[in-house]
Amino acid sequence: MKNTDKISLENAYRLFETGDIGNIEVGTTQGLKQIHKYLFNDLYDFAGIFRTQNISKGGFRFANSMYLNEILVKIEQMPEKTFEQIVSKYVEMNIAHPFIEGNGRTMRIWLDMILKKQIRNVVNWQYVDKTLYVQAMERSPVNELEIKTLLSNNLTKEINSREVIFKGIEQSYYFEGYEKDDSYE
Ligand SMILES: Nc1ncnc2c1ncn2[C@@H]1O[C@H](COP(=O)(O)OP(=O)(O)O)[C@@H](O)[C@H]1O
Ligand SMILES: [Mg+2]
Repeated sequence: MKNTDKISLENAYRLFETGDIGNIEVGTTQGLKQIHKYLFNDLYDFAGIFRTQNISKGGFRFANSMYLNEILVKIEQMPEKTFEQIVSKYVEMNIAHPFIEGNGRTMRIWLDMILKKQIRNVVNWQYVDKTLYVQAMERSPVNELEIKTLLSNNLTKEINSREVIFKGIEQSYYFEGYEKDDSYE
């Protein structure tokens, strides 16, 4: 694992370990910025700052940076009462992809905060298969069914379990290609 990624992983652990997660807004664009800043402070010069250039992945173009602010206002207003609504909001935020890098890791924490608050569940990421996840996210702009099915099969009511939280963070970093060479215990 690159040193910057290791530091970011440690930042993610610290976010929960210290209880700082409690100071982050739930389900807002401001909250998303706060998480990104926390994870990537001093690692990226754009930590907590939205992009002004256009980006794509696997041939998919994320939201045009010209409309990003307007889109984020709309996403923030999306309903989040049910599991389905919350995942739809997450899918839209992924399409917005407001940061140059670090969207995946930031947004999974953001998603869990909403799930925890609204439906008293979180995703048990440690059991979410990486290949299935990546495929479902690639598919999600066209069809949300796969990601909704995958995540609903991996919900847990153990929202305050250390294992769920820390193994979940580890898995989230693993999804983005960061090897689990220093497993949290
Ligand atoms: N082709 C795609 N279409 C839509 N979303 C994608 C695609 N490829 C990856 N993603 C999403 O983007 C995330 C990675 O975004 P990125 O900004 O690189 O975050 P990180 O730096 O945390 O890896 C993945 O976790 C996935 O959710
Ligand atoms: Mg990345």
